[in-house]
Amino acid sequence: MIMKLPAFRTVFEPFRIHSVEPIKMTTPADRKARLATASYNLFQLRSEDVLIDLLTDSGTGAMSRDQWAAIQRGDESYAGSPSYFVFRDAVRDLFDFEHVIPVHQGRAAERILFSVLGGPGKVVPNNTHFDTTRANVEATGAAAVDLVIAEGRDPASLHPFKGNMDLAALEALLTERGADVPCVFVTITNNSGGGQPVSLENLRGVRELCDRHGKLLFLDACRFAENAWFIREREGGQGERDVVDIVRDIAGLADGMTMSAKKDPMGNIGGWLALDDPDLAQECRNMLVLTEGFPTYGGLAGRDLEAVAQGLSEAVEHDYLRYRIVSTAYLGEALQKIGMPVISPIGGHAVYVDARALLPNIDPLHYPGQALAVALYELGGVRSCEIGTVMFGRRPDGGEVPAAMDLVRLAIPRRTYTQSHFDYVIEVCERLVERAHLLPGYRITQEPKALRHFTAQFEPITR
Ligand code: F0G
Repeated sequence: MIMKLPAFRTVFEPFRIHSVEPIKMTTPADRKARLATASYNLFQLRSEDVLIDLLTDSGTGAMSRDQWAAIQRGDESYAGSPSYFVFRDAVRDLFDFEHVIPVHQGRAAERILFSVLGGPGKVVPNNTHFDTTRANVEATGAAAVDLVIAEGRDPASLHPFKGNMDLAALEALLTERGADVPCVFVTITNNSGGGQPVSLENLRGVRELCDRHGKLLFLDACRFAENAWFIREREGGQGERDVVDIVRDIAGLADGMTMSAKKDPMGNIGGWLALDDPDLAQECRNMLVLTEGFPTYGGLAGRDLEAVAQGLSEAVEHDYLRYRIVSTAYLGEALQKIGMPVISPIGGHAVYVDARALLPNIDPLHYPGQALAVALYELGGVRSCEIGTVMFGRRPDGGEVPAAMDLVRLAIPRRTYTQSHFDYVIEVCERLVERAHLLPGYRITQEPKALRHFTAQFEPITR
């Protein structure tokens, strides 16, 4: 007889480890020296001097046995490689667009699409543009506007779909400036807004507005699988559905997509641009050949195309997604318990700490996010990413203003760290909360004109 037992609470990693990478141990004194050499910019560290690297979830995940096997099947023919067709069919199985154009990573898809659709006087709405998306829109002379719902800008709001587009604001924009809008974008999940999902209902609303105003709807779909899992968990009537079907519904509402395969598709590199319109696709392919490569490889090796095709099928497995979302929440909820202010609900790929709330003694123009990120590294060897005044505070005229929020993102590479790595990060954060009032602010001693967060040099402001 089979006894009916309650379900177990522990959601463990749905994989065993097959190949390992050593972590080189360092002490706070070692890291203090490394920080000085790097001018307190965490992008300037050598990654081998990092214990737990939560800088990004982009291209940093572990590939599976089956992806490594697929790599061996990679066919490196210049034109018409079988690996392209494996890739194209894997993309179309989820996102049924006629034209699938491989690129080396997401921003290449953005550059190509906006160089065709953008231009001076145009305006591209999005829930929130990621920084490369915004930069590629603006590089053509067009304006990028963010129209996320008000709850999406409130770190404490518990709205289940904080990535949703503000439909009233989108309608107003389309009514006032319709002729200038070449397409509408929706980013799933909304990375810059805390990895927050967009609901199917909201996407249907955006589609309806696009139909009414005759506009193309594109998805920036990097974290589509995590978004679909949130829809399954949180949206009425979706709880019993296969994530694959939810993804197909999402794709069915759009006219095209840009993709970084370094996120949910589990690649270390790769991306694509996919769309239905044949004329637009032809113009994009013309651009592709200039800088990325022939349309059946677009800047990738055949082996990369195979790895991404296999990764796509793994990204939509329920056991994987349950573990992925639960493990991000595990870290986020533990940080909340120890008094770290974090954006709630916890997002899909990252935990976002509100550094301005944690460090009220540091003026936003002395970069509380940078102060927290540097301290996390020095204390525990944990690398994170400032998303605040360092990243967004510089104005084109050279002036400086505080960003809307000073956040620190702890991004979680896919299938890479285990629960004990997270327990260590939680312990480091606990120690840090105790000494938060002692942390110094920073000043910038040297910076480039654009994207300063990658290379700026800092020094602590000693009190
Ligand atoms: N769109 C979103 C929502 C992203 O998060 C990224 C990259 C891109 C586009 C660009 O893709 O890097 O392949 O060119 N995000 C990374 C991050 C870099 O750390 O969040 P890419």
